[in-house]
Amino acid sequence: DRIICMLFGTCQTFLLEWLSFLVENEKISNARHKELHFVKTRLQDAIRKKLKNDFRLDAFGSSENGFGSNKSDYDVFFRYGNDNYERSSEMQIQTIINIEQALRAARFSRVMSITTAKVPIVKFAIRVESGEIEGDISYYNELALHNTQLLKRYCSWTKDETLSKLGMFIKKWAKNCEIGDASKGSLSSYAYIILLIHFLQRLPDPLLPVLQEMGEKRTIQVDGWDVYFCDDEPMPSWSQCTLSVSELFLQFLEYFAKFDWQNQVVQIRQTNKLTKIEKGWKKLMCIEDPFDLDHNLGSGISPRMFAFIMKSFVTSREVFFTLKEREGFVRSNMAA
Ligand code: GTP
Ligand code: MG
Repeated sequence: DRIICMLFGTCQTFLLEWLSFLVENEKISNARHKELHFVKTRLQDAIRKKLKNDFRLDAFGSSENGFGSNKSDYDVFFRYGNDNYERSSEMQIQTIINIEQALRAARFSRVMSITTAKVPIVKFAIRVESGEIEGDISYYNELALHNTQLLKRYCSWTKDETLSKLGMFIKKWAKNCEIGDASKGSLSSYAYIILLIHFLQRLPDPLLPVLQEMGEKRTIQVDGWDVYFCDDEPMPSWSQCTLSVSELFLQFLEYFAKFDWQNQVVQIRQTNKLTKIEKGWKKLMCIEDPFDLDHNLGSGISPRMFAFIMKSFVTSREVFFTLKEREGFVRSNMAA
């Protein structure tokens, strides 16, 4: 039993080491940034050969928000130089098809457009020195550029890399549990980062503020939504945090295993709780986008998937918690 306890004990240490390993080996490196820049140039060259109009490409998502790893996909927007260009859905689909042809002609691999989804995209892959980069190009969505900046601001709240480590770890955990892929009926990486921020804002001693409520509030309208958040105040609270990344991860699991999904909405834009009744939402999982307040990131979750996600939270919590308790037991035994 003592040997088993020691094995369990080392697992907790192993978890910590795995976290550091993740950050050292998977956090977006400068070399990866250079490769992404190279990919963007290749995309631009390919598209320029096909489209006559002036256009630009902008990266968003995890390559820009601080939660990216060397294995993350590369999310890119396409937009015409003239921002007032009419964006009818037919025109968006035609543009996406043109981009698809351009990428095929330029010998990108696994090029495929998906025009039936809510947001039409072209998927692609390209070989680079470190391996292969997968990505997708969607038509310009200014809100996603703003939520990328908001996540980046939260991510940079810590002077060390605690938050970025935790976010990357949670995304990896969700992918390993097969509950982290919206295209397969579960939740997107983006949704998990919203869950994480919400949880850190609601700790008894909050580790993150509510940036959309702070500072000199003013309304900044984009696509009919207010995208204001405070990005100029210093962020003091994190330095007082004595919890390790693995402890925070455990508490994250605990928080959502016990979350009142029946009545509450997960959101990061206000300190006050928000109920499903207030929103008029009836879905099993309600996770509000910070800017597009009509967008429920959990709207695609089926009852079966909901049960599966909950089971992952509960079981992971039990497993990791047992490891932690056992480690305590081993420590006191060894001390004795
Ligand atoms: P990884 O690629 O898994 O590292 O994370 P990511 O943050 O890039 O997430 P993902 O590729 O799923 O989404 C890319 C970006 O799309 C997000 O960071 C958001 O800026 C934006 N976005 C806005 N709304 C949604 C949504 O409903 N689902 C998803 N997936 N993304 C959204
Ligand atoms: Mg991505």
